[in-house]
Amino acid sequence: MAFNKRIKIKVLLEKDHSGQKATVMGWVRTKRNNKNVAFIALNDGSSITNFQIVADPNLISDDILKRATTGACLKIEGTIVASQGSGQQTELNAEHIEVLGDADPEKYPLQPKKHSLEFLREIAHLRIRTNTFGAVFRVRHALAYAVHKYFNDKGFFYIHTPIITASDAEGAGETFKVTTLDLKNPPLTERGNIDFSQDFFERETNLTVSGQLEGELAAMGLAEIYTFGPTFRAENSNTTRHLAEFWMIEPEMAFYDAEDNQNLAEDFLKYVISYALENCKEDLEFLDKRAAEEENAKKADQRSEMGLLERLRFVVENEFQRLTYTEAIEILRNSNHNKKKKFQYLVENWGVDLQSEHERYLVEKHFKKPVILTDYPKDIKAFYMRQNEDGKTVAAMDILFPGIGEIVGGSQREERLELLTSRMEEMGIPAEEMWWYLDTRRFGSTPHAGFGLGFERLVQFVTGMGNIRDVIAFPRTPGHAEF
Ligand code: 4AD
Ligand code: MG
Repeated sequence: MAFNKRIKIKVLLEKDHSGQKATVMGWVRTKRNNKNVAFIALNDGSSITNFQIVADPNLISDDILKRATTGACLKIEGTIVASQGSGQQTELNAEHIEVLGDADPEKYPLQPKKHSLEFLREIAHLRIRTNTFGAVFRVRHALAYAVHKYFNDKGFFYIHTPIITASDAEGAGETFKVTTLDLKNPPLTERGNIDFSQDFFERETNLTVSGQLEGELAAMGLAEIYTFGPTFRAENSNTTRHLAEFWMIEPEMAFYDAEDNQNLAEDFLKYVISYALENCKEDLEFLDKRAAEEENAKKADQRSEMGLLERLRFVVENEFQRLTYTEAIEILRNSNHNKKKKFQYLVENWGVDLQSEHERYLVEKHFKKPVILTDYPKDIKAFYMRQNEDGKTVAAMDILFPGIGEIVGGSQREERLELLTSRMEEMGIPAEEMWWYLDTRRFGSTPHAGFGLGFERLVQFVTGMGNIRDVIAFPRTPGHAEF
């Protein structure tokens, strides 16, 4: 006989089911006794709202009630009735309770008290059972769904680009090596280097830092594609915005120029954020309150001006500010912040890379809205970006978000074979290894463009979580690969 006859709590909360028999299953959040009756707040993951179970000791044995402690998993059969209490419309009068799994209160690490996010990171296998992480992962799911829906509705095709690759041509970051060679005793060439021709792929391979280059190949046949997959960077950056393993969304479009690319990115970001606002109301209201509490604990001058929900609506309703790198440098150079030496890295010369303090100044202090920065100096950007007429800049675009900094990086691509190969030569990128990439410029080349959105940074923005480790279930960062 099938075990799962349960009704989800989310469904019970949608309308009044009074009078119906129901079976619910879930985990005990709290239990309290009042006038001889036990009230159990049960959560089954379908909603942030718990369902109240009323257990009358005349029907439910004392032994079972004792085992219904915080964290225990229960199966409850009973009747839905109108609630006497003020906290909920309906509740379940338990007729039969089965303990599916005990949780020894002496040992169970998650108690109804407030735990710090740092502590919860150490028990990432259990933190999914908290209100905060339940909300974060439901919102994360909704955003992932919205990404696919957006592109599907626009006629883009989802391409699965390889995770193991032989190229790090992009230079986007340090790579993780992939090998089956015996690390203690690897085969060596005559010159004493590791002989990768004896490795599994008969060449040196690594985990991908981006699906873009393969995405470009696909766009040269399917015209509008996107990737959405895991991405790996072995940088030793211990920040609140870097992971060693993260998920990236990379649309790539034939027949798009830089402005088409900006328009798509802005429309896309607004769509997925609106989707979350419409479909994750309760979770976002909870996260809004959580973020407000966190803000209140900060010093007055470090608090953000808007609450979470307010900020999300603001981003959806207002046009992003578009300006060039050159204009941004002027603003930064002349800012009081720069003059009073409040930046750690002072902005003096055209050509420097922007630090996240500069990006956040532009977004949070100067424009107070998302910014699309374009036309960066070619020397601080990747080889594939399309060279502008001025000979100094490329058709790059970074999108900067409040509280996050860079959320999107992209560009129009160099579609002219001559210019691309000479740039590769300047940057020391071997053309022979990239023959397949260059073939797209040799045969049927066309203007095209694309961008990459860091999915966890998007989830951070939408949930208001300050640390990127708190928006992916099992974060990988330097020194951390538990779970
Ligand atoms: O700016 P990036 O390095 O761009 C690329 O990889 C291009 N190939 C994208 C493209 O044009 N198709 O990375 C894109 C985005 C960043 O803006 C950021 O949001 C995110 O990926 N990102 C990270 N997110 C978490 N942890 C990291 N270590 C990240 N590095 C980049
Ligand atoms: Mg970037």
